[in-house]
Amino acid sequence: MSNLVIVGTQWGDEGKGKIVDLLASSADAVVRFQGGHNAGHTLVINSKTFKLSLLPSGIVRQKLSIIGNGVVVDPIHLEKEIREITNQGINVNSSNFVISSDCFIILPIHKYIDSLRENQKKGSKKIGTTGRGIGPAYEDKVSRRGIRFSDFKNLEELKEKFISIYNHHNVWIEKFEGKELSYRDDFETILKCYQNLSKYMDKTWLLLKQLNDKNRKILFEGAQGFYLDLDHGTYPYVTSSNTVASNASTGSGSNPKYLKKTLGITKAYTTRVGNGPFPTEEDNDVGEKLGKIGNEFGTVTGRKRRCGWLDILMLKKAITVSGINGLVLTKLDVLDSFKDIKICTSYKINNQIVQDYPSNLSSQQSIVPIYETLQGWEEKTKGITKFEKLPLNAQNYVKRISTLVDCDIDIISTGPERDENIILNEAFN
Ligand code: GDP
Ligand code: IMO
Ligand code: MG
Repeated sequence: MSNLVIVGTQWGDEGKGKIVDLLASSADAVVRFQGGHNAGHTLVINSKTFKLSLLPSGIVRQKLSIIGNGVVVDPIHLEKEIREITNQGINVNSSNFVISSDCFIILPIHKYIDSLRENQKKGSKKIGTTGRGIGPAYEDKVSRRGIRFSDFKNLEELKEKFISIYNHHNVWIEKFEGKELSYRDDFETILKCYQNLSKYMDKTWLLLKQLNDKNRKILFEGAQGFYLDLDHGTYPYVTSSNTVASNASTGSGSNPKYLKKTLGITKAYTTRVGNGPFPTEEDNDVGEKLGKIGNEFGTVTGRKRRCGWLDILMLKKAITVSGINGLVLTKLDVLDSFKDIKICTSYKINNQIVQDYPSNLSSQQSIVPIYETLQGWEEKTKGITKFEKLPLNAQNYVKRISTLVDCDIDIISTGPERDENIILNEAFN
């Protein structure tokens, strides 16, 4: 049995999609376990670009792709994404795509509330959400008002649930907007989507048990990143799900004893989209340069990503909490033209040296990063597939990170294409 969990170690967009696609070649199934279509994963295969938000990245290799119970699903979006990927020549059918009937759904009212709330907040108080209704849908789940796909079995009870959700939110919407939203059209729209999607629905916990019983290789695909985790991230500037590796079990119904290895995907520098603390942010020419070379624009919203240097303290906490036993260092090539490269190795907060990522928001906002500066390599690494072929200073950068975080680097990604990688340790073994 050799299952693998893949999680982001920063604020998302570390290149998880590319790595899941790479490793899916050795997997029998790929499973999403949290988040929703707030995720945006870009895969580049022979110069052809695929953008996925909700479908597991394994679908491009036509691997069995599973959406686990922990994912919130917008049925309207899912239908659209299936249509789009089908138009790109990828076949999605009930043999290669399965959704848990336990998934909670995102309704149009959730998307509406997401935007309304963000619009009411001022300046840096805005979270900078993707506006896709993720937070409000998870809130309804936690407050036991939510609707699951399995609820569509009884249409009378389903209608009552719709009415109760719309009544609940309309109190607030009416106060701020002076009007209420009607559930009627949304009910009909979502019911039609369900009818089109129901062929994909099943008990995915049971399917995973059967796969595990047959010793199949399962890859669990995390969305977002460690610092967007609801419990462990930079709260309240986080998403509304747990992005840590242990949630692969809860969010899919897979027995935790089957989770063997966790790979942490780490960008060779750091980016963040949306508001919130970012200790190593370079809000200057350096950040601009990283963003320009790295093409740091959000897949989902097109927003410019904030950029800065690699932060070792962030990585250490992510490694500890997610039980990461191997790192994948992505976008090393983006650093090719930098004369000096900085790594943050400790923090100063209120004149005190700190070695662990602080929990409290105001402490996080007061961090002064302390850097170690390494010499850049100022040579092209793009597309290199052998470690020895990397310039010496690039080798030193990779080794230094591994030493500082005390974790192996298993793969180095040197470009967006599927085959632009240096494989140091096989992920499935
Ligand atoms: P994800 O959300 O973690 O899957 O990451 P995104 O797809 O949102 O963002 C990563 C971006 O970097 C995508 O556009 C990838 O095509 C690209 N990418 C991934 N790995 C590399 C790499 O090693 N070098 C470069 N230059 N681009 C990469
Ligand atoms: P992938 O899977 C980067 C961020 C949003 C915002 C915060 C809350 O592509 O790495 P939400 O809509 O989830 O309520 O927004 O989380 N965010 C992401 N940032 N990558 C993502 O996913 C993200 N998903 C959510 O920008 O700051
Ligand atoms: Mg992304």
